[in-house]
Amino acid sequence: MSGSIQTIPVRTAPPYTVSIGSGLLCRCGEYLKMPTCRVAIVTDSTVEKLYLETVGESLRRAGFSVCSYVFPAGEAHKNLTTLSAILEFLAREHLTRTDCVAALGGGVTGDMAGFAAAVYLRGIRYIQLPTTLLSAVDSSVGGKTAIDLCAGKNLAGAFLQPAAVLCDTDCLASLPAAVFADGAAEAIKTGVLCDETLFSLFETDCLAADAAKVIARCVSYKAGVVERDEKEQGERRLLNLGHTVGHAIETCSGYTIPHGHAVAAGLAIIARAAEALGWTTEPIAGRIAACLAKNGLPTGTDFSAKDLSEAAAADKKRTGGDITLVIPRRIGQCELKRLPLTDLPAIIAAGLEA
Ligand code: GLY
Repeated sequence: MSGSIQTIPVRTAPPYTVSIGSGLLCRCGEYLKMPTCRVAIVTDSTVEKLYLETVGESLRRAGFSVCSYVFPAGEAHKNLTTLSAILEFLAREHLTRTDCVAALGGGVTGDMAGFAAAVYLRGIRYIQLPTTLLSAVDSSVGGKTAIDLCAGKNLAGAFLQPAAVLCDTDCLASLPAAVFADGAAEAIKTGVLCDETLFSLFETDCLAADAAKVIARCVSYKAGVVERDEKEQGERRLLNLGHTVGHAIETCSGYTIPHGHAVAAGLAIIARAAEALGWTTEPIAGRIAACLAKNGLPTGTDFSAKDLSEAAAADKKRTGGDITLVIPRRIGQCELKRLPLTDLPAIIAAGLEA
C-alpha cells in the first residue's frame, strides 16, 4: 500500500466513515471494523474480472466467509429482475441479519446491492467499495439505494446508510475515459453547488493528479448535507442539480446514455435556462459548458423539450402539480425553485442549444 488513507466521518445514525486512498481493496478485510461474518459480494460482469478475486481474498484472510453474485454490467440491468435474483441469492446463501452485503463497483452496483440489503430480512448491513469516480464522489455516500422502473429512473428504493465506504483510488487508473468523465460530471456539479475552487480544477488539466483531493472535497461536502438532511426533505435536494433533465435524458435514451453524461447535459441545459430566464447573478452557462466539454462531456441533447418534460413528470422531485428544480445562481451557489410542472417545457426549451 502506498500513500496515506484519508477518513471522512458521516455523522448519521448510525455513523460511518468514508476511507479514501491507495490499496484499500486488497486490504479491505483489515479495514472493515466489524465482527467477522458472511459477506455477499455483489458486483457486475466488468468489475468481477478486475477486483472480485482481490476483494474476496482480502476478506477471507481477515476471517470473513465470502460468497459472490455477478450480474450483467449496465444501467439497463438495474431493475426488478436483477434485484429479485440478488435477493434469491442472499436467501440461498443463508445470509442472516448479522451478515453483510458488499457492493463492489460503480453507481449501478451500489444502488442495487444497497437496495437488496435494505429489503432482505427487512434490512441487513452493507458496505460500499466504489470502483468508479462517479460512485467515489457521489453515489457510494449518503445511503440512497434504488432500482429503475419502466416509468423512470430510481423510482423504487430506500434510504439505508452503508456501514462503511472504502474508496480505493487505484481503481481510477483502470477506468475508460468515458467512465472517468461520468464521475467528473458529478464532481463538476458539486463545484457549481458549493465550491468554485473545485470547479476550477476541472477547467485546468490537473484532475488526474488530484483525484483523491477531488473525492475528499466532494465527500466532505456531501457528508455535511446528508448529516443535516438524510431523507432529502430540504437541503439534500440541491444535490440533484442537473438531475431532473439528466434523468429524463437517461429515460428517453432507454439508459443507453450513461448517468454522468446525462447529468452533464442536464447541468448545461439548466444553466443555460437559468441565465436566459434571468435567474443567475452572473453569466455562467458558457463557463459551465466549456468545463463540461473540456472533460469529455456533452452539453446538450437531441431530445425535444416536450419529450424531456414528459419524462421528467415521473421524477421523484415532483410534488402534486409542482416540481422543484435546482437553479444555479453563480459558480458555487444554487437555490431550490418550486415551479408548476406546466412551466417545465418552456424552461427546458430555454436551455436547449440553438
Ligand atoms: N446523488 C444525490 C444524493 O445522494 O442525494
